[in-house]
Parts: sequence; C-alpha cells; structure tokens
Amino acid sequence: MYTTQAWAKAAADSDFKKIDIQRNLCGEEDVTFAVKYCGICHSDVHVAEDHLKPVRSTNYPCVPGHELAGLVTEVGTKVTAYKVGDMVGVGCISDSCLACPTCNTGNEHACQAGMTGTYNGETKHGHIATDKSWTFGGYSNSQTVHQRFIIKIPPGFPLEAAGPVFCAGITMFSPLKEWGAHRGGLRVGIVGIGGLGQMGVQLARAMGNTVTAISTSPNKKAVAKEIGADTFVVSTDPESMRAAAMSCDLILNTVSVSHELGTYLPLLAMRGTIVQLGVAMNAHAVYQLPLMMRKLRVTGSTIGGMLETQECIDFCHRHKIVPRIKLVTADALLDIYKMLNSKNDSVVRNVLDIEASK
Ligand SMILES: NC(=O)c1ccc[n+]([C@@H]2O[C@H](COP(=O)([O-])OP(=O)(O)OC[C@H]3O[C@@H](n4cnc5c(N)ncnc54)[C@H](OP(=O)(O)O)[C@@H]3O)[C@@H](O)[C@H]2O)c1
Ligand SMILES: [Zn+2]
Ligand SMILES: [Zn+2]
Repeated sequence: MYTTQAWAKAAADSDFKKIDIQRNLCGEEDVTFAVKYCGICHSDVHVAEDHLKPVRSTNYPCVPGHELAGLVTEVGTKVTAYKVGDMVGVGCISDSCLACPTCNTGNEHACQAGMTGTYNGETKHGHIATDKSWTFGGYSNSQTVHQRFIIKIPPGFPLEAAGPVFCAGITMFSPLKEWGAHRGGLRVGIVGIGGLGQMGVQLARAMGNTVTAISTSPNKKAVAKEIGADTFVVSTDPESMRAAAMSCDLILNTVSVSHELGTYLPLLAMRGTIVQLGVAMNAHAVYQLPLMMRKLRVTGSTIGGMLETQECIDFCHRHKIVPRIKLVTADALLDIYKMLNSKNDSVVRNVLDIEASK
C-alpha cells in the first residue's frame, strides 16, 4: 500500500477535509497516475450525501470522484499500452471480475458479479485495494487501477476537460448508440441541460441528428443553441411544450431529482423511446394510453463498458467535442454540492483542479 492525499466527507452532512488514504501499490498489470483533474458529477453528491441509502448506503470516509484525468507515473511490468507521462483517465468503473461473459464482451459496467465503482465500491474482485473495504475516488492526488480500467486520452485533447467524458459523456454516448442515433437522422431530445445534458446535445448533434434541448431554465437557451441544439423547449411552459408535441424519436432524460416521467411523453413521436438516466429515487406513475396509442418505449441506461468509453473519447476528439467546464478548488466543493442539489443552473461541469487544491 502507499499513502496519498484525498478530499473526503466524514459523514453525509460534513464538509470536505483533506485526509490520508491508502491505495494498492502498482502491480504487474496496473497503472498509477497523478490525478490532475476530476469532474464533479451529480452522482458524487447522491453518494457522498447518502441519497441512495435504500439501495446502497455510503461508507465513510467517502472520497467521491469518477471523472479522473492525469499523467501516468508508473506502470506494471506486464503493461505495454501505457508509459510514464501518458495522459490517461478513469471513469466510473475501477474493477470487475474480468471473467464473466458480460466482462468478456466489454460490458464491465454490467459485470455479472457486480462491478466495483470508482468510489464507495466494494473491493471484492482483488484488482484494486484500499485500507478499507471500499474504493476511494478521484478527489485525490494519485490513483492505481488495473490497466483494463484505464482510458487513453488522445494526444491534443485538453486534459482538464477529459474527465467529464468518462461519466457524463459515455452516459449519453451509450444510449445514443443503443437506440440508433449514431447513424444520424433522428430527432433527439435531451432533458436537463447540465453536466450530462450538455454532452448529450453535442454528441447527438455530431452524430447527425436534429437536437431539441428540453430544460426548466430559459436562461440556458443561448448556450444550448451554441453547443448544437436546433430547438429549445422550456418544459415548465405549456405553450413551449405544446409546440414541441410528438417532435422527438428519442429522448435522453437526465433530470437528477424525483419528477413526473409523464411530463415528457407528449414530446415523443410514434414509436418514440425515452431513456431514463438520472438517479431519481421516486417510482413513476405512467398513463398507459399514450404508450399504447403511439407504441412508446420507456427504458433506462447506465454509463458504458471500457471499450465504449474509449470509443466515446475518441469520437469526441475526432468531432472536436470538448465538455464545457469550470475549474474549481477543493474549498468550493460544499458550495458546488449545494448548487447541484438546488439545480445546476449553468451549462458547465465543475472540475476539481487537484494541483491548485493542494
Ligand atoms: N445513468 C448513469 O449512468 C448516470 C451517470 C452519471 C450521472 N447520472 C445521474 O444523472 C443525473 C444528472 O447528472 P448531472 O451530473 O448531469 O447533473 P446536473 O449537472 O445537476 O444536471 C441535472 C439537470 O437536471 C435538470 N433539473 C434539475 N432539477 C430539476 C427539476 N426539479 N425538474 C426538472 N429538471 C431538473 C437541470 O437542467 P435544466 O436546468 O436544463 O432543467 C439540471 O441541470 C444525476 O441524477 C446523476 O446522478 C446517471
Ligand atoms: Zn457520474
Ligand atoms: Zn464480470
């Protein structure tokens, strides 16, 4: 084990404090890198504040962060794909069994033995360890993972903006591919223009689709259009919603709080699909007549496997898609969490600058 510094919460309602944590040394199949930046995902808030308690409660200390980007400092003897100094990242997955059919087809996030999340994940597969029985995330100076969970950042891609591709980006990229938007020509709606939503707009547009940004925040219209939305709909304005009725073939819904799924169904065209992506803990009441009349589908999706995550950043690089970010330091974490809880009111992903926070 080696010791490194991290920013942790000691309890759901505590502030972040700098603490020492321990990580496994760099084994023969591992890559260690200095974390330079880590995106602040809304999921960090859900976990660090124990919002998922009925499903999976949070262990403390909790070091969140699953949008890591940094520079390799050490590689194991069996690692040939990476060398010291390379730009690399880690997303939401830090371990899985690497043996089940799901892992073997590049879907480590759906490992049949349960994947290990980058933070608050059970260290049960043996490729990653800390001094506790759970993982510590990227609000930290250094990370070590098995090479399978490393993503190569294409040379030239801005390091500070790479992390958000590994959660926000892939979470949108995967369902866009799954429901056919990668071939272009669909009318894609993105609900919630926050961290995930801004990536959804940019990716859907670059794939050749017509994009509708659907938001509760009229102030986001100009930026949404600038990053690729053809149409901007204010979901709280009945007139705006009526004008957009049945105008989407596919909707990716990123709303981060309990909400009415039925609000968005009128926007779906015949055979339309809505993909639920936010960690909303409420059960949805859905009227089935619209589902019947227009053969609508309600489904969900979560992140993506390692191959698809690599594909996602390579796609972003090719299409010059760069997440809109704001660099922040660790002393701002609590305020950012408060803002995300009330509503991400700007079209940016906050990114923790590790060097500047030290
Ligand atoms: N499925 C997955 O694999 C996955 C991966 C990452 C994150 N997530 C989850 O996805 C959600 C979004 O994450 P994020 O990082 O993009 O969060 P975010 O930056 O906070 O964006 C969420 C957006 O939801 C909209 N919103 C907030 N409150 C709302 C309300 N009361 N009614 C309607 N819309 C509301 C806002 O957009 P407008 O201002 O435009 O309305 C806000 O910007 C979170 O729950 C997160 O945990 C899931
Ligand atoms: Zn995330
Ligand atoms: Zn597996």
